[in-house]
Amino acid sequence: MMSDIRIWINDQEVKAKVGQTIMQAADAVGTYIPRLCYHPALEPSGSCRLCAVEIEGYRGLPAACSTPVEEGMRIQTQTPKVIDFRREMLRLILQDHPRECLGCPRNGSCELQQLVAAVGIDFPYPAPSVNRPPAMPGGRYFERDYSLCVRCGRCVRICHEVRGARAIVFREVVGRQEVGTPFDRPLEAVGCEFCGACVDVCPVGALRDNLQDFHRESREHIQAVCERLTAIVTHLYK
Ligand code: FES
Repeated sequence: MMSDIRIWINDQEVKAKVGQTIMQAADAVGTYIPRLCYHPALEPSGSCRLCAVEIEGYRGLPAACSTPVEEGMRIQTQTPKVIDFRREMLRLILQDHPRECLGCPRNGSCELQQLVAAVGIDFPYPAPSVNRPPAMPGGRYFERDYSLCVRCGRCVRICHEVRGARAIVFREVVGRQEVGTPFDRPLEAVGCEFCGACVDVCPVGALRDNLQDFHRESREHIQAVCERLTAIVTHLYK
């Protein structure tokens, strides 16, 4: 059983458990810390840096999602230094992201939109880079639009860490990291089982399911089976 320790979050004394991260301890008492690469189903990667906090006696701004709590730790989640840092990190992400939210299927349920509101980034956003990956043609069950990808790595990690596959990977494309399939091959050719885990963890509109097609194909299949059974029964009792 995990034992309790005392920490302070924004000068409030909080009970935390040995082995918890700062983010888990903060979540447990309702203190929100911004996040993007973090997902509760995954090991923390500490890559987006949006969950940076200040800790008394620590150098730099540690990532709350991957830093374990320690007895007596004093954490500040909203100092001017932390806020400036998060805004800078978020600006870099937004630089590579389209601005046309209204036309995006994730408009209103997009974690990036929620982050912009939480971090309080100033308008106008930085001018978008022209160096964005193109949208991919629609897949059989998934839509993949990597121009919306924020490179949080959740899809890559869940495919590898949880599903034990490597259907989605980070690739080096013209000096930058992009998400895609190994050697740009179709999903069917790289071991994808269409489990949908990557879609579930995508925070933006880059990966979306296309279940209408799946349901239509299932309905057509069931209808064909029923027609065949009806034909057999009719034949037998003729
Ligand atoms: Fe902690 Fe991304 S959420 S580094």
